[in-house]
Amino acid sequence: MLMVDVIRKKRDGGKLSKEEIDFFINGYVAGTIPDYQVSALMMAIYFKGMDDEETGLLTQAMLHSGEVLDLSMIPGFKVDKHSTGGVGDKTSLVLTPMVASLGIPIAKMSGRGLGHTGGTIDKLESFKGFTTSITNEEFIENVKNVGISIMGQTKDLAPADKLLYALRDVTATVDNMSLIASSIMSKKLAAGADGIVLDVKSGSGAFMKNDDDARELAKKMVAIGKHAGVKTMAVISDMDQPLGRAVGNTIEVREAIDTLKGKGPEDLLKLCLTLGSYMVCFAGRAASTSEAEDMLKEAISSGRALEKMADFIEAQGGRREDVYNTTASLPRGKKRFVFNAEKDCYVSSIMSEEVGNASLILGGGRRSKEDVIDLSVGIYLTKKVGEKCRAGEPVAKLYGNDEAKLSEALERLKGAYAFSDEPVPKNTLIRGIVE
Ligand code: URA
Repeated sequence: MLMVDVIRKKRDGGKLSKEEIDFFINGYVAGTIPDYQVSALMMAIYFKGMDDEETGLLTQAMLHSGEVLDLSMIPGFKVDKHSTGGVGDKTSLVLTPMVASLGIPIAKMSGRGLGHTGGTIDKLESFKGFTTSITNEEFIENVKNVGISIMGQTKDLAPADKLLYALRDVTATVDNMSLIASSIMSKKLAAGADGIVLDVKSGSGAFMKNDDDARELAKKMVAIGKHAGVKTMAVISDMDQPLGRAVGNTIEVREAIDTLKGKGPEDLLKLCLTLGSYMVCFAGRAASTSEAEDMLKEAISSGRALEKMADFIEAQGGRREDVYNTTASLPRGKKRFVFNAEKDCYVSSIMSEEVGNASLILGGGRRSKEDVIDLSVGIYLTKKVGEKCRAGEPVAKLYGNDEAKLSEALERLKGAYAFSDEPVPKNTLIRGIVE
């Protein structure tokens, strides 16, 4: 088979066969097909698309390009969760201990932040001593003994995706539905869970800028999961403003812990209860999502979810007391700048991406993979969409360690907000469910 024929077929709108898809994925990983030919194919796919069968075959080829984790030695139904990425998204930090506290094993691989979006691993490293650099064996032992473990994605997991993603990033071919769906699902399926709950973000701060696109992506991913024999569903959730009120690293962990203590923001709790209820139902622990939600609420009110978080942090090198006293253990930046309302008004919109960029300017995010980040900096959104501001009241607070960066971030943050003299409805958080 010749790669040039595969490229030509897709360029002309043809449908690729399993043999052709396996050929280019295996050849790319082996180094026998060069970047420039795969770039050309990615661009052809970008313009001509792939149908569901091709997308499924591409996912399978990427999934089997490396190691597939075997979690069968962990008793129970293992359920994973994935978010397509957003600003202020600390859902995993709340959801995983909450669900694990009900005796449902959580074996999760997470990533670091890049650009305007954060990553679970960076956030968790806010706890002194905590590490996700553990072996597969330690990961599995922790899930067995503690009920929950989170590790960084190993380099052996879906290596084809790693290569392809890096190539797509520099050839303007990231935002294609089939390429995104296969990229995410190949990694999720390789991580070995029995069930996957997806949080597909929709809005200005997300890959998918509107609900129709988010639903299409969700449907593709759910179909891929089910076809692979893994229970899969998706929640479509709002990213037309950041989730919760905290954006950064330590500041987000504090908000997540507050939520586990029953004192978190309403939207974050609601999203965690919705995603969590499907995880509980998938695991066969509740007959309905409303029954599952009640179980999750009880896990919070009884303190069991928080205790599970402490068990988890301790098992991976942190100190359990740091979970209970985040004011001391997770310090915020030493300097604070405040964005005050100029007059009485209502918040009409907040561009999530720009809030993420303001956090990046403070030093809380990476422009490139090698950047070292300042975990203590961040932003607190005192006012969100639909909320009333009185003249002189804080709209948002910025925490940092460098006045020049704080000034620049403050200007950027001001540009992210829009106000109205008239009342504005609050955003709808849950935009849809795809089962
Ligand atoms: N996240 C991924 O893992 N892959 C994509 O293609 C887009 C977002």
